[in-house]
Amino acid sequence: MQPDISVKHLNKTYGDGFRALKDINLDIEHGEIFALLGPNGAGKTTLISIICGIVNLTSGQVTAGGFDIVKDYRQARKTIGLVPQELNTDSFETVWDTVSFSRGLFGKPANPAHIEQVLRDLSLWDKRDNRIMSLSGGMKRRVMIAKALSHEPQILFLDEPTAGVDVELRRDMWNMVRKLRESGVTIILTTHYIEEAEEMADRIGVIRQGEIILVEEKTSLMSKLGKKELRLQLQAPLEKIPGELTLEPVELSSDGYELIYSFDSQEEQAGVARLLRMLGDIGIEYRDLRTRESSLEDIFVGLVHE
Ligand SMILES: Nc1ncnc2c1ncn2[C@@H]1O[C@H](COP(=O)(O)OP(=O)(O)OP(=O)(O)O)[C@@H](O)[C@H]1O
Ligand SMILES: [Mg+2]
Repeated sequence: MQPDISVKHLNKTYGDGFRALKDINLDIEHGEIFALLGPNGAGKTTLISIICGIVNLTSGQVTAGGFDIVKDYRQARKTIGLVPQELNTDSFETVWDTVSFSRGLFGKPANPAHIEQVLRDLSLWDKRDNRIMSLSGGMKRRVMIAKALSHEPQILFLDEPTAGVDVELRRDMWNMVRKLRESGVTIILTTHYIEEAEEMADRIGVIRQGEIILVEEKTSLMSKLGKKELRLQLQAPLEKIPGELTLEPVELSSDGYELIYSFDSQEEQAGVARLLRMLGDIGIEYRDLRTRESSLEDIFVGLVHE
């Protein structure tokens, strides 16, 4: 099957000469949740805006739902729902009118049953006759999502969907996104919350200074780049790492009370047993030991600062 989104050799240089995207190549398959991670200014919104036809590309080729976003702009745009990073919600209109009107913009005939379903799914049904400006921040965000879903898109972009949202609402959003995926919608989200990508995504892309530096299944990313750490609290402090241990990747904490041993999480763990045996042999005693696995956050920070 052809991918829902295909990006080939995409470049973007803004009017002031700034190169925001450099030779981006990316395919998004139907039905996946793809998280795009990257620091501020990396180019996430630029990439999304180009795919959605809001920003012009400089060179390269992009298709959405199989349609070229330049040549078949209207067709391509119909397949996409976008919840932008900057919410524009100072509206006097009611929830119902706003969401219904949105559908009309895509040239789709009215379908009150669909709009009702969307509003119910987003827990907005009770608020359908409220003016947008009278809603709480979280509800406004849901309205933006309802608008994006009004024309039954096959692909949904969420640009920082949970920035500034409380923990509970963030959980709600995650559940909603999962439900949407089950209904067959492909989802691309950008986020600063690593936890969000860790929780939600099937695949993760990392973008830095306009370049995609990595695209990987989440699970393989975590096992591939993940590190484990064993920390041993010593009975008595050491001044330096004993000679017998220098062949192992062992570090000593600055107070001398802790030995830290790092290893790849996918490696077999013979090293740990060997280390503990050696400590026994040379008579170093420890009071406690802890292991810790690196999170996606450690991996991400490592990548971005490399
Ligand atoms: N209209 C524009 N003209 C010139 N430069 C721009 C324009 N829009 C964005 N940029 C620059 O392009 C780069 C990427 O911006 P973009 O908004 O895509 O980043 P982002 O990854 O979405 O960041 P954030 O996480 O802060 O939302 C930034 O350096 C930004 O200053
Ligand atoms: Mg952005």
